[in-house]
Amino acid sequence: LAGCSGGGEGGQAAAGEDAITVGFSQVGAESEWRTANTRSVKEALVAPDFTLRFSDAQQKQENQIKALRSFIAQGVDVIAFSPVVETGWDTVLREAKAANIPVVLTDRAVNVSDDALYATLIGSDFVEEGRRAARWVIEDSQGKDGPIRIVELQGTVGSAPANDRMRGFKEVIDGDSRFEIVRSQSGDFTRARGKEVMEAFLKAEGDGIDVLFAHNDDMAIGAIQAIEEAGRKPGTDIRIVSIDGVRGAFEAMKAGKLNATVECNPLLGPQLADLIREVHAGREVPKRVMVEEGVFTQDQADAELPNRKY
Ligand code: AHR
Repeated sequence: LAGCSGGGEGGQAAAGEDAITVGFSQVGAESEWRTANTRSVKEALVAPDFTLRFSDAQQKQENQIKALRSFIAQGVDVIAFSPVVETGWDTVLREAKAANIPVVLTDRAVNVSDDALYATLIGSDFVEEGRRAARWVIEDSQGKDGPIRIVELQGTVGSAPANDRMRGFKEVIDGDSRFEIVRSQSGDFTRARGKEVMEAFLKAEGDGIDVLFAHNDDMAIGAIQAIEEAGRKPGTDIRIVSIDGVRGAFEAMKAGKLNATVECNPLLGPQLADLIREVHAGREVPKRVMVEEGVFTQDQADAELPNRKY
């Protein structure tokens, strides 16, 4: 199984007799957010309470489906995973159900014909994150005349955060006729693609871009580089808002290059561990567990940076 490993680090306690074996399929390592999320999960699902089988899908659904099937074949107690995309899960989730293995979704949602195919979903409200980004843009544009031209760097095509952030952002921005989303394309949540796509936006639109909305900080950081290489000032000539609140975003805000970041908390490990315990014990859990988050602007970056945990 590609990218599959035990979760334990050296020097750890041995798994207890009643340890819960968890098969966890991660999206990949596409962003700072994801790295922090992986760390949090690996630190929470440890011996003696847990035995972790961890698999990295390298942003590919086919790898995730293979990993899930392998967990089913191994007879793990609980499967947890963060689905790369929203659709295409019915068959494999039915297989898990037939094998009596409960499934806990983490971070990203699925779109399935029957919600009973998974026990619960713990993660952020991505639609609200998109709305928050749009509200920041509107507040930042007070007193400015239209047209205000926005470019959007979307996350992975078909993923819940890309779909939902796009929807939430549009819902709010559409209420103000000064704004126009002139370009919108996926940068796959990575710095490298964020930079490439921003280069294409700049080529196509010239000086006609006022605002960049990036679905995550990594793409914004890549785009900042593209903007500088094009001889423009990120944060000034082009106002920029992104999502996650990773350390790199706070550093970019401190440097005046990013204007705001909407928090998306990746530190889900401890809550995930609690949910897995409950589900494994056959206890009732809420179908949806939300994570609390805020919005940070440039003027808060200096004070907040030392408090950031990811
Ligand atoms: O699903 C959460 C998103 O996935 C984060 O915003 C992004 O950085 C990550 O890759």
